[in-house]
Amino acid sequence: MSSGDSGANEVYAKALAESNRAFSGKVKELSLVRRLCDALLKADSLESTLRLSVDIIYEEMEPMNCSIMLYDERRCELILRSVRGRSNKSAHYFNYSPDSRVIPVDTTLAGKAVLSRTTFYSNDTKTEPSFLFIPDGVKILSILCTPLLSKSKVLGVINLSSANPDHFTTEAGRILSIVSGYVAMSVENVNLLKDLLAKERLSALGAMASTMVHDMKTPIHVIGGFAQLLLDEGGDRIEREEYYRTIQTQLKRFTSLAEDTLEYVRGHESSLTFTPITLEILASEVSKAFGPLLDKNGISLSCTVVNNATIKVDWDKFWRVIDNIVKNSINAMSDGGKMNITFTGADREAIMEFSDNGPGIPAMIREKIFDPFVTMDRRNGTGLGLAIVKKIVNQHGGSITVTSSPGSGSTFIIGLPADTMGVG
Ligand SMILES: Nc1ncnc2c1ncn2[C@@H]1O[C@H](COP(=O)(O)OP(=O)(O)OP(=O)(O)O)[C@@H](O)[C@H]1O
Ligand SMILES: [Mg+2]
Repeated sequence: MSSGDSGANEVYAKALAESNRAFSGKVKELSLVRRLCDALLKADSLESTLRLSVDIIYEEMEPMNCSIMLYDERRCELILRSVRGRSNKSAHYFNYSPDSRVIPVDTTLAGKAVLSRTTFYSNDTKTEPSFLFIPDGVKILSILCTPLLSKSKVLGVINLSSANPDHFTTEAGRILSIVSGYVAMSVENVNLLKDLLAKERLSALGAMASTMVHDMKTPIHVIGGFAQLLLDEGGDRIEREEYYRTIQTQLKRFTSLAEDTLEYVRGHESSLTFTPITLEILASEVSKAFGPLLDKNGISLSCTVVNNATIKVDWDKFWRVIDNIVKNSINAMSDGGKMNITFTGADREAIMEFSDNGPGIPAMIREKIFDPFVTMDRRNGTGLGLAIVKKIVNQHGGSITVTSSPGSGSTFIIGLPADTMGVG
């Protein structure tokens, strides 16, 4: 081989090594971006977004430390929210609290990146007067900070650090700025989702409060009017007793509206005491309790158990479920009718069907029948009945659905977890 040939070979070998390096760099970059995109698609909270981002960036870019700080623009502060270093198996997440690690934005390299909205390096931190952070007593000699930029503002900053000087290349800065775009988008999405949920909750609360105030006004006015009549001492004894009874009825309505509202808004923490009961016993209690009332209203009752099972219920609360469903049917069938109640134990589940052949649920409320304050009977009902029913069924680990068509009645179906073994 001539010296010319070997020179050419060396050039080729160098070029090959260079393109190999470039190629494996690209593969690494793609792997980082793909892992991050896959993970962030599943992130549904700020915590999961930040933790996953820190973990993936740490594992793929291999710095000594990776952290994400969020920027509070109003207070000009950076708050450390997630970090991973050499001694951590996975990223730490810090909830925001008064004790959070807060750094004034104009005192750090990370702050420089935020304020300048550009990636910021220092490969010789000794010369940096604003350098601040020395974790685990290990000196940081190189640092790379990239701002998290959303469409209109800076959300925070990703920081990578290393104990070696000159550790971060322009290429690393370029990759981190691509990655920071994805992280910023994800942070913005979870923030938007949080705002949206808060707004929705507020508007639901507002709607509920205004319906409540409206519903409470009626009994208060009636009570006020009849109390005035009593005070005026008009009418005979029978009339005065009638006024008194009206006041009592309205007071009861007022109290039950307040109690129902409390029952509905009370959180899941409202305690339940579960006791086992078989479907056969439940069916017999239902027949005993509602048979005479249905009969009085011209409604025939058929109450059957197809296959026995044991369910666990908070008796008072669960009775409220049955009571409201049956009484709704009675109210709907003012000219009498038929009510079929069937209890079926099947495959670890108990199915309870309450069917009537009344007029069906009015179309205008069918979709929102389980929402609070939905009623066609504003004078007598609060419209909280089925909202509470659904809440109680859910608290029992069950579900409730309804089918109804005009003129052919309504069927409410409840499914509850059950023990179908060992009962006859
Ligand atoms: N079986 C049914 N047939 C027809 N309409 C029904 C039936 N069950 C419920 N509805 C309709 O659904 C509405 C809401 O029922 P829900 O039990 O939530 O409230 P309510 O009975 O009006 O008041 P309360 O809070 O006193 O129970 C009723 O007003 C009624 O119009
Ligand atoms: Mg009701």
